Amino acid sequence: GVAPRLYHENVIDHFNNPRNVGSFDKNDPTVGTGLVGAPACGDVMKLQIKVDDATGEIIDARFKTFGCGSAIASSSVATEWVKGKQMEEVLSIKNTEIAKHLSLPPVKLHCSMLAEDAIKAAVKDYQSKRVKGNGNSEAAP
Ligand code: FES
Ligand code: FES
Repeated sequence: GVAPRLYHENVIDHFNNPRNVGSFDKNDPTVGTGLVGAPACGDVMKLQIKVDDATGEIIDARFKTFGCGSAIASSSVATEWVKGKQMEEVLSIKNTEIAKHLSLPPVKLHCSMLAEDAIKAAVKDYQSKRVKGNGNSEAAP
């Protein structure tokens, strides 16, 4: 029989060929790490950004997602969208935009929510490192 067409081709594409899979060293001061989980299903997403300290531009991104196909596709899209943008800009990326891009069905909206949360968490982590780093950067021998 003919399989029902449940997923948009963008989901299939990002699921089969996820962009930017992997990790950066989370202790690198230019890296922000966002680790978030979905209480509804227990899926977990790690998204990392690498930031140019001088300009605040996100120059690279990586993700690792232990979750459903929609969560993997959402994180893949998220890493593509944050690259080349300023941190303030990526804070306004909405899960609904990701869901629309992938044509996610309503039951899969929370999967794209993980990506929005992970972006925000990664920016927050980077910013908190900067604050801490300023105090003791002169102390190193
Ligand atoms: Fe990849 Fe749009 S299909 S970001
Ligand atoms: Fe939970 Fe997709 S079913 S992240």
